[in-house]
Amino acid sequence: MDIEGKTVLITGGAGFIGSHLVDRYIEEKAGEVIVYDNFATGSEKFLKNKSVEIIKGDILDATRMNEAMKDVNIVSHHAAELEVFTGIDNTIHDLRTNIEGTINVLNAALKNDVEKFIYASSGGVYGQAHYTPEPENHPLMPHWPYGVSKLAGEKYCLQYYLLYGLPTTSLRYGIVYGPREWYGRVLTLFIKRVMEGESPIIFGDGKQIRDYVYINDAVDANILATKSDMSNGKVYNVGGNDYFSVNDVANTVINLINPSINPIYDDPKPGESSKYQVNRKRLPGELKNFVLDSSLIAKELNYSPKVKFQDGVKREIEWLKENLKLWNCEPRV
Ligand SMILES: NC(=O)c1ccc[n+]([C@@H]2O[C@H](COP(=O)([O-])OP(=O)(O)OC[C@H]3O[C@@H](n4cnc5c(N)ncnc54)[C@H](O)[C@@H]3O)[C@@H](O)[C@H]2O)c1
Repeated sequence: MDIEGKTVLITGGAGFIGSHLVDRYIEEKAGEVIVYDNFATGSEKFLKNKSVEIIKGDILDATRMNEAMKDVNIVSHHAAELEVFTGIDNTIHDLRTNIEGTINVLNAALKNDVEKFIYASSGGVYGQAHYTPEPENHPLMPHWPYGVSKLAGEKYCLQYYLLYGLPTTSLRYGIVYGPREWYGRVLTLFIKRVMEGESPIIFGDGKQIRDYVYINDAVDANILATKSDMSNGKVYNVGGNDYFSVNDVANTVINLINPSINPIYDDPKPGESSKYQVNRKRLPGELKNFVLDSSLIAKELNYSPKVKFQDGVKREIEWLKENLKLWNCEPRV
């Protein structure tokens, strides 16, 4: 469907990905862009455009959600609990936000005759890769409660399409990175340490492979899915244009910031802290390899990720030089 002149509501629109979507939907000449966010982790500083309407609300508040959805044409559902450790320690909270919250958003969309619904899913739905790259029909065996709740959200989106004809599309992102990324994941931990003159700490041998998607490419996937009818009732992987080992990630950061630094290797047990960085715990069920096969979205929607990892990391570092104070440096995962 055309975006021009349409009203778009973005749940989680004050967050990392959501706020970039706000900017892009405005560029695409949406008539109105509404951010619906409880500001648990999002920031008004990401919402510079004066034309955005901001509704401070929780997706668990079905009444408010429903009111906010009046006359909305396009919904982009990005609000979520995405801290893996929170999902493990407080699984009910993860379930409520990601499943009950998603059902509230779907119900409001249905009631208000929304014409397009995009759901932010995650490559975390696959769990440990049986083979790589992982296509959409790879076995789904999430390793964390977060992956379970994101997968349930996807399945509900599909139900609302099959039962009621609500045109939903789920996008399974790889690791999205770039300006406004939140602190806590490997790339951000490495950048902060190297900026402060310290060594990045690599868990294990650093040969674990990761799929990084630059934020603008992830946003492109959203816009392509919004504009296409072919995406209705579909699930797509959204990966980057290459993949990297954790060693590569550390070396990229080091080369861009301070080539005299060397990484340190550490091997804490799952759930335990690093001996070099006490507030950094190793994830239980850490993925060995994580590479998404994005050929379906490339074929059906013409998705083509453009930004090279080195360039994307450079842009994130540039942004961070001005915005380090925005980071809550208690790791989220
Ligand atoms: N960043 C990634 O690499 C990545 C990868 C896979 C999937 N995703 C998915 O993309 C979406 C956005 O992720 P992000 O990285 O931008 O995270 P983020 O934390 O920056 O954004 C999430 C936003 O949702 C808001 N929010 C949280 N709970 C809410 C609630 N109950 N009601 C209303 N608003 C609420 C937060 O305040 C925040 O603004 C999430 O659904 C996440 O699961 C992200």
